[in-house]
Amino acid sequence: MKYDRIDSNLYIANRKKFTERMTANTLAVFNSNDIFPISADSTMPFQQHRDILYLCGVDQEESILVLFPNASNPAHREVLFLKETSDLIAVWEGEKLTKETAFLTSGIKTVYWLQQFPTIFKQLMAEAHGMYLNTNEHLRANTEVETREDRFIKQVKQDYPAHQVHKSAPIMHKIRSIKEAVELELMQRACKITEAGVRRLLAFIKPGVWEYEIEAELAHEFLRNRSKGFAYTPIVASGKNACVLHYIENNQQCQDGDVILLDVGAEYANYSSDLTRCLPVNGRFTARQKAVYNAVLHVKNEAQKLLVPGTIMAEYHKQVGSLMEEQLVGLGLISMEDIKTQNPDWPAYKKYFMHGTSHFLGLDTHDVGIWHEPISAGMVFTCEPGIYIPEEGLGIRLEDDLVVQASGAPFNLMGDIPIEAEAIEDLMNA
Ligand code: GLY
Ligand code: MN
Ligand code: MN
Repeated sequence: MKYDRIDSNLYIANRKKFTERMTANTLAVFNSNDIFPISADSTMPFQQHRDILYLCGVDQEESILVLFPNASNPAHREVLFLKETSDLIAVWEGEKLTKETAFLTSGIKTVYWLQQFPTIFKQLMAEAHGMYLNTNEHLRANTEVETREDRFIKQVKQDYPAHQVHKSAPIMHKIRSIKEAVELELMQRACKITEAGVRRLLAFIKPGVWEYEIEAELAHEFLRNRSKGFAYTPIVASGKNACVLHYIENNQQCQDGDVILLDVGAEYANYSSDLTRCLPVNGRFTARQKAVYNAVLHVKNEAQKLLVPGTIMAEYHKQVGSLMEEQLVGLGLISMEDIKTQNPDWPAYKKYFMHGTSHFLGLDTHDVGIWHEPISAGMVFTCEPGIYIPEEGLGIRLEDDLVVQASGAPFNLMGDIPIEAEAIEDLMNA
């Protein structure tokens, strides 16, 4: 791992949050992700499943966590199964977790090698009445690939058809959405790394630079700060490319007079940061670009004030729609007549602002959380309104990461990154 070791008390607290919500006499199983293949003997870089990571900090493939708070043997109330390490493995793959380092990482005392899993799991299941299985219930999840967890679930349901099945996902979504102080520190660190990247760019961007050169500057800055790199595929979109919401080619030359949209965030210790800034390629916005920019900034400033305990996100998204509507009328992009005759299912403002304003942020960039419950302190949301005008070759989005506070305005983890148009111009021309 590039990141500094995290205090195992975080994982001890996280497991407690899960186990105190479990039904009596049940156990829960969490699997690592696979290492995904490319072809021949090439593989993608490993990315741990965020749930096992959240519960024990084990950032290693082929690991299994079992939680069984009512196990008759106290040593089996929480158990880790890890791929056995050996001198041979150490030579080829480098250091893997030993039983001792797994304890230091997770606070879990009982660590077995993976080959012991079938025997020990059988004993545990003989005692348990039910099992919590961890399915992916993220609303936007859309994948055809069968995960290690999916394979485990298929097998365990076949092997133990008489056990009651419970869902881990609602518990995980609930507990992961409210961040501990240590997690907020890690997220702040990810945001500070992103800030270092953006500040590097303020002096670097000029007409003629290529989008991929900007991406390279960011990657360099992120990696030298102990980040694995981008938290999500970066969007470096100059001119009209900014109107393609998921533009990730990043292969065009930035032209004098264009604005470049940067939706880029570093990860740190698997926590995401998620930022969008828009910079004028030549260091100065035109009057029109600034008008659109300030309209988006106004919506963002007003919207983020609504991220307070008790807010219902569906209502919030409607309120942001109204804020945006007003700005689009002001910019002459939609008319009062368009609003009067609009389809309520697809309001007029959606022609220029067609995505959501906020999402949960954490170990996943589009993090898990319970969307239909009122929001509460300790949750982290992005706020990211935008206006996209393909006919003007201009797309503006501004995005910060905000921690909901028990009282008062949310805390902006990106608060030190310049956002006022004039402040950006000053820094680009310094
Ligand atoms: N960068 C992904 C998002 O803003 O949601
Ligand atoms: Mn976002
Ligand atoms: Mn983003």
